[in-house]
Amino acid sequence: MRLDRYLCGSTGDSRSTVRTWIRAGRVTRNGTVATRPAEPVSNGDCVSLDGTVLVLRGPRYLMVNKPVGTVCTAAHADPRSVLNCVPIQAGARLQCVGRLDIDTTGLLLLSDDGQWNHRVSRPGRSTKVYRVALAAAWTDQMLDHLCTGVQLRGERRLAVACDVTPLGPDSLRVTLDEGRYHQIKRMLAAVGNRVVGLHRLSVGALALDDSLAPGAWRELTEIERCRAEGLDEAACQARSDPQ
Ligand code: URA
Repeated sequence: MRLDRYLCGSTGDSRSTVRTWIRAGRVTRNGTVATRPAEPVSNGDCVSLDGTVLVLRGPRYLMVNKPVGTVCTAAHADPRSVLNCVPIQAGARLQCVGRLDIDTTGLLLLSDDGQWNHRVSRPGRSTKVYRVALAAAWTDQMLDHLCTGVQLRGERRLAVACDVTPLGPDSLRVTLDEGRYHQIKRMLAAVGNRVVGLHRLSVGALALDDSLAPGAWRELTEIERCRAEGLDEAACQARSDPQ
């Protein structure tokens, strides 16, 4: 592996940042100051920055309780980015797994593992469960319509909720197995209601850790990563304990 990739992977910093360290003579490989970003690093080499040994990290998987007013962009530079909930160094290459609207709160997954991101967001793989607050009381007709399928403007395929459970006279728990643009808001508008609050409770079999305050985050355990992919508990246990 190239030295600059090793430095990015072990610190989470960008390639341009790590190159400034190399130019400044702050990086050593096996005790010798490194001068070239493309210098190869082999297994067993010891790479240090300012004398501190750097260890290559594996991919990262986090959950964050997305606060209202944050956006799912890939750039920390946007002051509204939800990535700013995570310290820059830790989150430099993280991406949001799917998108939530600026006013939607709750479970958002972040990862720098593109393949896992794809598996979790793929339609039909991991169901997503939302608590929905409505402007007006729901009716049986609305619930039937959501479960049999709603025609969204400009779309050929009906949008169908996998499950709709009343939580109160003007609140619902809605389960989807896909994530179209503003899907819940558009579905509720199509049946004659309006969403005034939206909170994601779970992705696959992974629920938001309710000890996380809005804006707080934590790493996922291996079994939680598997639950988010929508695999059943036996498959998750087998993956985290392969013998
Ligand atoms: N549906 C929406 O309308 N918005 C979201 O953020 C998620 C699902």
